[in-house]
Amino acid sequence: MSLSVSRRLAAVTAFAVAGLFASTAPAALAAPTAVTAAPTPPDIPVANVKAHLAQFQSIATSNGGNRAHGRAGYKASLDYVKAKLDAAGYTTTIQTFTSSGATGYNLIADWPGGDPNSVLMAGSHLDSVSSGPGINDNGSGSAAVLETALAVSRAGLQPTKHLRFGWWGAEELGLVGSKYYVNNLPSAERAKISGYLNFDMIGSPNPGYFVYDDDPTIEQTFKTYFAGLNVPTEIETEGDGRSDHAPFKNVGIPVGGLFTGAGYTKTAAQAQKWGGTAGQAFDRCYHSSCDTTANINDTALDRNSDAVAYAIWNLGAATPVPPGPSFENTTDVSIPDSPGAAVTSPITVSGVAGNAPATTKVDVNIVHTYRGDLVIDLVAPDGTAYRLKNSSSSDSADNVVATYTVNASSEVANGVWKLQVKDVAGADVGYINSWRITF
Ligand code: TRP
Ligand code: ZN
Ligand code: CA
Repeated sequence: MSLSVSRRLAAVTAFAVAGLFASTAPAALAAPTAVTAAPTPPDIPVANVKAHLAQFQSIATSNGGNRAHGRAGYKASLDYVKAKLDAAGYTTTIQTFTSSGATGYNLIADWPGGDPNSVLMAGSHLDSVSSGPGINDNGSGSAAVLETALAVSRAGLQPTKHLRFGWWGAEELGLVGSKYYVNNLPSAERAKISGYLNFDMIGSPNPGYFVYDDDPTIEQTFKTYFAGLNVPTEIETEGDGRSDHAPFKNVGIPVGGLFTGAGYTKTAAQAQKWGGTAGQAFDRCYHSSCDTTANINDTALDRNSDAVAYAIWNLGAATPVPPGPSFENTTDVSIPDSPGAAVTSPITVSGVAGNAPATTKVDVNIVHTYRGDLVIDLVAPDGTAYRLKNSSSSDSADNVVATYTVNASSEVANGVWKLQVKDVAGADVGYINSWRITF
């Protein structure tokens, strides 16, 4: 059993029986090894992504100029992607369906390992419209997801989550393949998918940098990536629900994604921040025969491909730091009005080896009719006071419900800790409802 699991179990048990002064069992504390940092995401070589695009282009060229559902160019694209994944150690599955009288195909690739009950998915539609080779729409997403999957294999990545990649058929006929996949996933399997990342058009020739406004964690992951590049982003507004994330979202799976723009026109303000041409579509060849390998902005493709990997590495591997042992006091302590004495509420901590952490957390719940009256300190066993909150004559709101982080690393953890509260202004009163300290 891992340290974090045993600790959490200990905490649950202690709270169930103890009530007033809940404390955890003195489980071995020291080992910071229980916390695994996410490995650094790789730089996805844009040349590799472009090599996949060149293959999609040549597949289209030799199959009537497109890679559309029901045409030979689609299946050839799927076979190309599948062969790369098989060679890299993926477990691949072709799922067939029928649409408009033709057989359609989804390709699913599972990376062996990870928590089968927590699956991170990324996907792209692999079909083009019939009027062109579909290199930006959506060879770009398909190639970036493929190259990220290959990078997972090159890195021998063993993330916490199970990774699954999908290439969808017949998106251009109305999200047919992704709907089919989601609809045929038993609800128990749906519940295991912690997130779905969609990449549809990420190399537009006159690019914008759009992030889907959906699951906040996924959205923030992408925003953090682009912030690191100093590239401003905007929220995607060219049609929510117009791509393969929609079926996932519709069954409650957290979704997110990236997009560099289709038929909408780049504004002057957007050209200011991103470069490119104002008054012109993000992709003038959207759904046209000119959506060829010439219809790609390499910088956008490069940045977005790296963003795919960044998200897979971070969302797939990030292990939340497990909380340490936690102690609380739920006895009410009334706080006399000013000029009264400070009151305290004690918590006896035992069984915690060594010093308190630099990230000691203090949850405070005080009921009061004018919280600005209150000065709050955490008092360590040796009497050292740590100021949590000062008074403020302008803070007229009720109650203090807050979590404070205290660097208590110079304090021995075991002993009696106190929450000390003093009312420094007349009229309003209240009481300490409960507080908690977490190491
Ligand atoms: N494949 C999509 C389509 O043909 C492209 C698209 C348009 C899109 N608007 C979008 C993709 C918004 C993602 C988000 O409709
Ligand atoms: Zn399209
Ligand atoms: Ca008062």
